[in-house]
Amino acid sequence: MKDSFGRDINYLRISITDLCNLRCRYCMPASGIEKVEHEDILSFEEFHRIAEIAAELGVKKVRVTGGEPLVKKDLVKFIESLSSIEGIEEIALTTNGIMLEDYAEDLKKAGLTRVNISLDTLDSEKYREITRVGDLEKVKRGIEKAKQVGLTPVKLNVVLIGGFNVEEIPDFVELTRNDDIDVRFIELMPIGEALKMKDAHSVSADIILESVPELYPVEREDVSSPAKYYKLPGGKGKVGIIEPITCKFCSDCNRIRLTSKGKIKLCLHSDEEIDLKPYLDDRKKLREVLEESIGRKPEEHHLEDGQYVEKSMSKIGG
Ligand code: GTP
Ligand code: 5AD
Ligand code: SF4
Repeated sequence: MKDSFGRDINYLRISITDLCNLRCRYCMPASGIEKVEHEDILSFEEFHRIAEIAAELGVKKVRVTGGEPLVKKDLVKFIESLSSIEGIEEIALTTNGIMLEDYAEDLKKAGLTRVNISLDTLDSEKYREITRVGDLEKVKRGIEKAKQVGLTPVKLNVVLIGGFNVEEIPDFVELTRNDDIDVRFIELMPIGEALKMKDAHSVSADIILESVPELYPVEREDVSSPAKYYKLPGGKGKVGIIEPITCKFCSDCNRIRLTSKGKIKLCLHSDEEIDLKPYLDDRKKLREVLEESIGRKPEEHHLEDGQYVEKSMSKIGG
């Protein structure tokens, strides 16, 4: 359905858990997040019900995020249940890749179309430094497995952090030369834990083209994608640049978010949330509230005015 600014809302991002097996410095405190009571989190059946109604309202793509979605037991069954919903054409997953090797094949069989993997460095020690606990080898095996079973194109999400991974830009770009893999660089957004790093670590994405001048622009396949795409001459994969700060893409925004506690977030950078929990047992009301919420989606974010969301990124799902 269209929102009040004429944008077609056809993409639902569901954060199924706040929990994560990593502790990325820009996303989570070292101690993790406060534990949420089990009964506060929607069941897969309830997520499914909301996705079904969203599909009736025109949602065609669902992305499952977290925290880390693979830490949830029965994720494969959930993906299978999503793929049975009429109208859903694409089911994607955003993961840190740590557990992907074990699940990629079953996820593909269950109907998952593709994966985006968060990976901010190609160096094992630096990987441990930024994630505090992660093992890079596991992620590399996860990437290989995802390619092998056809969860393609695999996209890597690289958050740009000044003083940390800027000199690795050419190495990441190089991955796209011979491999059908897309690498997307993301400007560090001032949100949650990252608010504490903002001044010291935020880098403008212009640095990508300065670091690898042979990149040339290619047309976007999906106009609502937050990434602008480039390629190396003769390269197989694409290089994406996501600039939520220096280049707003709000006018093409096609998405709404559902948090693990059953709240709809209409914009990543707004604190406003609509609680669907009271209506879960009343399908008609649930549809009405969802429809009315979409109608209220804000026109754009106001990061430039310093309107930052304090909530941890792991609770929103990116
Ligand atoms: P594709 O379906 O492959 O295009 O993925 P995606 O970019 O929609 O999802 P992904 O989870 O890989 O997100 C990549 C980055 O873009 C993350 O850092 C997100 O937080 C950021 N992003 C996604 N949607 C929005 C949005 O609506 N607004 C802003 N400002 N950033 C977003
Ligand atoms: N700024 C930009 N991207 C972020 N992510 C998490 N926190 C931030 C932030 N503050 C990324 C993750 C993941 C995606 C969903 O969001 O690395 O790839
Ligand atoms: Fe986990 Fe992703 Fe947050 Fe890292 S950025 S702690 S992988 S949810």
